[in-house]
Amino acid sequence: MGLFITFEGPDGSGKTTQIKLLADYLREMGHDVLLTREPGGTPIGDQIRGVLHDIKNVEMTSVSEFLLYSASRAQLVRQVIKPHLARGGTVVSDRFADSSMAYQGYGRQLDLDTIGSTTQFATDGLTPHLTIYLDLPVDVGIRRKQTAHAAQSGELNRLDRQTIDFHHRVRDGYLKMAQAERHRWMVIDAMQAIDDTQRAIRERLETALPEVRKATIR
Ligand code: TMP
Repeated sequence: MGLFITFEGPDGSGKTTQIKLLADYLREMGHDVLLTREPGGTPIGDQIRGVLHDIKNVEMTSVSEFLLYSASRAQLVRQVIKPHLARGGTVVSDRFADSSMAYQGYGRQLDLDTIGSTTQFATDGLTPHLTIYLDLPVDVGIRRKQTAHAAQSGELNRLDRQTIDFHHRVRDGYLKMAQAERHRWMVIDAMQAIDDTQRAIRERLETALPEVRKATIR
């Protein structure tokens, strides 16, 4: 069984950059790293991503939205993540099931237990060994995303058109999840400079990895 690391956090938290830097580091350490992202990461998942992000889909209900994320995830787990872990590889995913709990559960206020049980079904019970949450104040995240959009390097999708309250609920949800499962989550301050954020991730990982290894060998 390999190592499964996920990144969570708001848009604008610098996830993409941090994931790339961490992947370089893990490869230097000899890991066979596979990067994935959600929604998407498989041909079917990428089609679902198109439906989810399409600004025209204004009628989409929160339940449909959640089930589409889950369908994309079910495909990714079985087609990509589990086979790589079974070969002893390391998977680093840009978002995973905790995003559904944060955005559809806490954000859209769908029933948290239903999200949990449906997610168990969709993921075949797969839980990340480590989840790195890049934490950012809500207003900073929104401003960064708007700046990226203005510079045309970032896309504003259907989900960006949410109220500030929604984003506060999402952040509070993430922090609650991190608090409830401290052994799995690392909360990293994403207000730091890129290098400092990466250094903080690596330092925390150095402490956490031996523990994860012990748990997966047992
Ligand atoms: P990203 O490609 O910038 O990470 O954006 C993905 C968007 O999808 C982001 O706004 C969060 C949202 N999302 C959910 O609402 N639920 C989910 O389960 C996942 C994976 C993403």
